[in-house]
Amino acid sequence: ASGVVRRDRFSGGPARSFLSSLAADERIFAADLEVDRAHVIMLAECEIIEADVAGEILTAIDAVEVDGHDALPDGEDVHEAIETAVIERVGADGGKMHTARSRNDEVAACIRYRLREDVLAAVETTLALRESLLEVADAHDETVMPGYTHLQPAQPTTVAHWALSYAGAVRRDTARLLEAYGRVNQSPLGGAAFAGTPFDIDRERTAELLGFEGVVANSMDASSSRDFLLETVQALSTHATTLSGLAEDLIVFANRGFVSLSDDYSSTSSIMPQKKNPDTLELVRAVAGDAAGSVQGLTTTLKGLPRAYNRDLQRATTYAWETVDAVTEASEVAAGAVATADWNEDTLAAEAGEGFSTATGVADLLAMAGLPFRTAHEVVANAAENGSDYDAIEAATQEVLGDSLETFVDPDEVAAALDPATSVASRDSRGGPAPESVADQLELGRAASEAH
Ligand code: ARG
Repeated sequence: ASGVVRRDRFSGGPARSFLSSLAADERIFAADLEVDRAHVIMLAECEIIEADVAGEILTAIDAVEVDGHDALPDGEDVHEAIETAVIERVGADGGKMHTARSRNDEVAACIRYRLREDVLAAVETTLALRESLLEVADAHDETVMPGYTHLQPAQPTTVAHWALSYAGAVRRDTARLLEAYGRVNQSPLGGAAFAGTPFDIDRERTAELLGFEGVVANSMDASSSRDFLLETVQALSTHATTLSGLAEDLIVFANRGFVSLSDDYSSTSSIMPQKKNPDTLELVRAVAGDAAGSVQGLTTTLKGLPRAYNRDLQRATTYAWETVDAVTEASEVAAGAVATADWNEDTLAAEAGEGFSTATGVADLLAMAGLPFRTAHEVVANAAENGSDYDAIEAATQEVLGDSLETFVDPDEVAAALDPATSVASRDSRGGPAPESVADQLELGRAASEAH
């Protein structure tokens, strides 16, 4: 067949393996078979190729599927190799399969088809992670812990409040992935090389057969745009960034003895017998670097590409596979680590008040008694120089205001404000750490999980 002649002329030589994406295309082998089937069915339905030839091609495609990717003949890519394998079985008529299309719209369709499934798997892991976080929140709405800003003790909070802070972030990660999914899920098939085709094809039909929600309207856009890849990798990178913060928190908390990771998510040392290290979480943290690198690499690859198809796009695809695999795995591991971690309630309670973390609550109390907040802040800041107990606050009140603390507030209320658990319970503003506020957030998180 003439196709064979062309390939002999143009794909030999020392650059052959450099040109070929066949190995990497294993990822889209199954997708390509589906795309081929849909295209051939449409061609027959539109009477562009004969029904019996279509039948023979479809039978050959089934055989190619059974033999698998590894059995494909050599080729520049999976599309060419499958076509060659079909022609080997059907004869020259097998070449009718490639009527009214190009590898350019074909590969775009394959990538989108496969990526849909991968993005949905990533979405699933975000849902599992949210579930783990909601369960932690449910179990620990009264487990007080230190809260930090700048990694310095700031105000007491609860494990539930901390967990829900990540549940909210992961919820948005899910939404971003689903939004990317909607734009991945559009069919480019029928765009051909970029300039459409004189054959009377039915693009909606192939879109329907492949389960795409619609078609990419413009044929040049369909065959050459990859912003759907960029958007997906960006959404994955954002999720990886969320995961890295979560992992870092758990690493710090493990260091402080606040949380014990399950053995399943820990590692040991080859020399130090006593060690239990949070290696899995360190790797989760590192995946954010890979993902950010992918965003950069993919953006740089796509930047300035002219219309229409350019072979640079072959190297753009691999960023998506690497990133979706790494981030999905990291998300899964994070969900498991969160679900199996043990929160050390006694240590957390003992440390919740560290570094005079109840200071803001005392200042709030003075402000509620009518002092300007700035003045209250000054009193407590002055006390903090000397201690964090009632006496220190009493001395500071006398120094700053020239009066005893009792003239402003009930001493029992000061004692309560100094207690981390009471301090947390008092911060019942919407979204706050008080158990009733956390209950509302938990309900919101559960309702969002129902929705997706
Ligand atoms: N393997 C290519 C890719 O991944 C598709 C083939 C298009 N090749 C071409 N020379 N137009 O993008």
